[in-house]
Amino acid sequence: MSDMERAIAALRSATSIVFFTGAGISAESGIPTFRDKLTGLWSTHDPGKLETAKAFRENPALVWGFYLWRRNQINQAKPNAAHLAVQRLATTGRNVAVITQNIDDLHERAGSVDVAHLHGSLKSPKCFACHRTADLQPSQFDLPQHAVERDPPRCPRCNGRLRPSIIWFGEDLSTVVWKSAVATVQSCQVLVSVGTSGIVTPAAEIPQIALSSGAVVIHVNLVDVSLGTPNEFMIIGKATEALPALLSAACGI
Ligand code: APR
Repeated sequence: MSDMERAIAALRSATSIVFFTGAGISAESGIPTFRDKLTGLWSTHDPGKLETAKAFRENPALVWGFYLWRRNQINQAKPNAAHLAVQRLATTGRNVAVITQNIDDLHERAGSVDVAHLHGSLKSPKCFACHRTADLQPSQFDLPQHAVERDPPRCPRCNGRLRPSIIWFGEDLSTVVWKSAVATVQSCQVLVSVGTSGIVTPAAEIPQIALSSGAVVIHVNLVDVSLGTPNEFMIIGKATEALPALLSAACGI
């Protein structure tokens, strides 16, 4: 049997399925992955050097400007066929959860409700000093054309600078979100990992946790990212094509 056939068989009999997603699921919506080079005004910047607390401390306007640019990019993007297929599966009576490393909201905009963001999201910023979240007016997210820098707004409570509510390199994941994600993974029958390189820990441990708990892991990616264990099936292809084809063949959606 091919990996595709074995993946279809595993999904067909599963009632509890977790989707573990990374930048690759949103790539075809126009949101670049972390391994793509930045474009336009940001082409000379290294994202690895902007996505840290140290960078924010040294140049808050540059880092805030970078995330305003990314937020605009996300707002202009639309959920694609892969996000929509995940949501459709949840309407079939199966127990479906989504654990994403993405800071975009494309799963939610596709209609998925049970979405855990391991690396946070760009929705509500939080204070760099007191850590409380703050709601901003839409105009405070504007980034003038051709601008890269913009001073971050101030916290209404302590006047600290606001930063995105995401996990930067070197920061710990939220214990609550991580523990709940691990519990979800430990109780699923099939984990479908879509568009993640599996190199950033601890998120990258999720497929291994699923395997250790007796689940089957199906990877959907442009390249082979499997760990080489017997209960893993590798589907090579674009998320927008391979995932809907897999779910349609297995679950008739
Ligand atoms: N379809 C399927 N897979 C794709 C597609 C596509 N259209 N395009 C890219 N991919 C795959 C790539 O082959 C790669 O394995 O998606 C993966 C993207 O990898 P990364 O850019 O490393 O994204 P991700 O795994 O989500 O990164 C994890 O790293 O930088 C940090 O915090 C950031 O959440 C991020 C974490």
